[in-house]
Amino acid sequence: MSINIKIPRHVAFIMDGNGRWAKQRLLPRKMGHREGVKAMKTMIEECDKLGIEYVTFYAFSTENWARPQEEIDELFSLVKKFADNELAKYKDKGYRIRILGDVTQLPDETRDVLTEIVSSSKDNKGMQINIALNYGGRQEIVQAVNKILQSGLSQIDSDMLSDCMYTFGMPDPDIIVRSGGEKRLSNFLIWQCAYSEFIFVDEYWPDFDRKVLDSIIMEYSRRDRRYGKIARLD
Ligand code: FPP
Repeated sequence: MSINIKIPRHVAFIMDGNGRWAKQRLLPRKMGHREGVKAMKTMIEECDKLGIEYVTFYAFSTENWARPQEEIDELFSLVKKFADNELAKYKDKGYRIRILGDVTQLPDETRDVLTEIVSSSKDNKGMQINIALNYGGRQEIVQAVNKILQSGLSQIDSDMLSDCMYTFGMPDPDIIVRSGGEKRLSNFLIWQCAYSEFIFVDEYWPDFDRKVLDSIIMEYSRRDRRYGKIARLD
């Protein structure tokens, strides 16, 4: 049976398995994170080639502060390096960069460079790269409700809430992919995932390449998205 390939508009990645990738090779965990950055770059390039409009990466959750300080420092140093070297280039190539999460708690120099890139890339028309940093889905909902309450409203609807999310103005993810074999969302985009297709992949994040991406697109193309209706829509 032939399959019509469907290209999603928005793919979100839960980048799991960096530590296990490193352990398997008797390397320190930080080497797994460094390889994870390379996989991010590959995914950005390959998603763009496929015509995907929005790509989102879960880089640091509100729960990740509980990791050893050395690992937290390493992760933020990678984020700063990624912003200086790669995001600056992506911005010049016409990509739009957004950060999802509470940036006020990020290290100053990381926050400053990210804020500048977000602001100077906001009118770009190319693919949008979202990086979730100090992100938690429940916290995102709570801050959205608080924003609405502060405006004096006492009743909300779902569009209002969407407009107060870090993801305002973006389509919800068509696919949420998690690498590393675990099958859970870990507080990621819990409002936005209402109709997302979940794809769980055994490969560790540093092993993600075009072949893995193609298999994800194939799997997505086989899915029948009905949004509660009964007939196949496409
Ligand atoms: C999960 O693997 C991965 C993370 C918590 C961090 C992801 C970060 C990067 C890929 C690099 C830094 C980000 C940017 C934006 C440059 P894990 O450590 O939980 O792996 P494990 O489950 O195998 O231990």
